[in-house]
Amino acid sequence: MEIDRRVFFASLGGAAAVSAMDSDAKADALEAYLSDQLDDAVSAPPKGTGSPQKQFPTVAELDAQITTKNYRRGVGNLFAGGRNVKKLEPMPANATLQDFFRLRFAPANHVLQSATRAMKTGMTEEIILACLLHDVVQELIKPDHGWWGAQLFEPYIPAKSTFAIRYHQALRFYADPANGYEYPEMYYGIFGKDYVPPPHIEATYKMVRNHKWYLEPRLVTVNDLYAFDPKAKVSIDPFIDIIGRHFKQPKEGLGNDNSPVAHMWRTIARPDSPL
Ligand SMILES: [Fe+2]
Ligand SMILES: [Fe+2]
Repeated sequence: MEIDRRVFFASLGGAAAVSAMDSDAKADALEAYLSDQLDDAVSAPPKGTGSPQKQFPTVAELDAQITTKNYRRGVGNLFAGGRNVKKLEPMPANATLQDFFRLRFAPANHVLQSATRAMKTGMTEEIILACLLHDVVQELIKPDHGWWGAQLFEPYIPAKSTFAIRYHQALRFYADPANGYEYPEMYYGIFGKDYVPPPHIEATYKMVRNHKWYLEPRLVTVNDLYAFDPKAKVSIDPFIDIIGRHFKQPKEGLGNDNSPVAHMWRTIARPDSPL
């Protein structure tokens, strides 16, 4: 997918705003931007049907908007994101992971493409599951999405999948050609060659690099970065069996099971709740 650097920077509030972001925030913003572009491309009507071109504000207009908004850029996609929110269907009783994919995470193209690639390249079921789930928490919140995502799924999935989700966020900054992961060229082009991840990401990388489960998050990054294809047709159907084998669906439904993270699922289920 091609990136228009000027448009991307404008979407973040301009070059000055970008330079004030730390390296991890920049990388998160790029991933979110690509994911949004992909969703737009997939949901756009065919050419010639009168779809208006997306209008982007100027840097000055965005700068002027910062203090007029009651949300920040790290807010989850369900809550805000530069366009009007959609009316959401209520979740069914005893909601399953598939219900959340259909009604709250959709279209979820990025994670479905990642998981499809993981399946095609013969990853373990724990890694395929991690690829399927690795970014969906961005519907709730974006900063530290590896840690938030791991927390959201920890009670329900294998420990290796949780580990993979938690640490993919840090590993994507560190090349590992022996395992098929090059530092993404697009990061050079957009953020500059002198990019240095912040100390907590560096420390996390060093810890994970020496961990016996290092390959779990590494293989999520391998299947992550090349997953943005607006033409790909993807579905959750090929993953239903893996979900059945590895996702401990609570009988009360996600959000009703009194787990330590049930409130996170309830918030995703009812983002229009005033309190
Ligand atoms: Fe991610
Ligand atoms: Fe991702």
